[in-house]
Amino acid sequence: MSTVNNITWHNSEVKKEERQHRNKHKSAVIWFTGLSGSGKSTVSVELEKALFKQQVNTYRLDGDNVRHGLNNNLGFTPEDRKENIRRIGEVSKLMVDAGLITVTAFISPYQEDRDAVRDLLEDDEFIEIYTQCSLDECEARDPKGLYKKARSGEIPEFTGINAPYEAPSNPEIVLDTENNTVEESVRYIISYLKSHAYIKNK
Ligand code: ADX
Repeated sequence: MSTVNNITWHNSEVKKEERQHRNKHKSAVIWFTGLSGSGKSTVSVELEKALFKQQVNTYRLDGDNVRHGLNNNLGFTPEDRKENIRRIGEVSKLMVDAGLITVTAFISPYQEDRDAVRDLLEDDEFIEIYTQCSLDECEARDPKGLYKKARSGEIPEFTGINAPYEAPSNPEIVLDTENNTVEESVRYIISYLKSHAYIKNK
């Protein structure tokens, strides 16, 4: 039991392992990272649908959506991005404790911030997926017209243009989203989850 600032941690009487046992699958965070337009949201949406269909209890957190609510006071400075990822990491940890396969889709451009989330969780609970796609291709796709705005100087700290993106040094999965279809990416992730015994091999 730990006490910090007169606040004491209470352990739950219902254990994570008991929730996992009832769910018939492990819980973990599937953490997508990559440039804007690289396919994080698209692949994560389809992945969540496929998992749900297979009776997996899952929940998805997405950059654009979370920034409307929980993180609506944060911008895109390095400090705000760090805080964004820290909060999402803590929320993800709660969701893993609740027995869910949690899918997150945030640019999360800094290795240090992603590693901090990894450190919050147990060894096999953080599955980092890099949606690898060249800046040229992301910019050509420009689904939200944001690269255009960044090039014209309308968005000052846009990832890949005038703010950095640090590709993961050792991700569990790399998806070539420039050349593979969304279906191929989803199939690959599902087979990884099965071969590593996160979900049942049905
Ligand atoms: S992160 O860098 O803090 O992880 P997050 O994934 O939450 O970013 O939000 C990224 C989304 O915010 C992008 O998909 C894009 O739609 C929007 N956005 C607005 N301004 C920026 C910016 N300066 N850099 C990157 N994304 C931005």
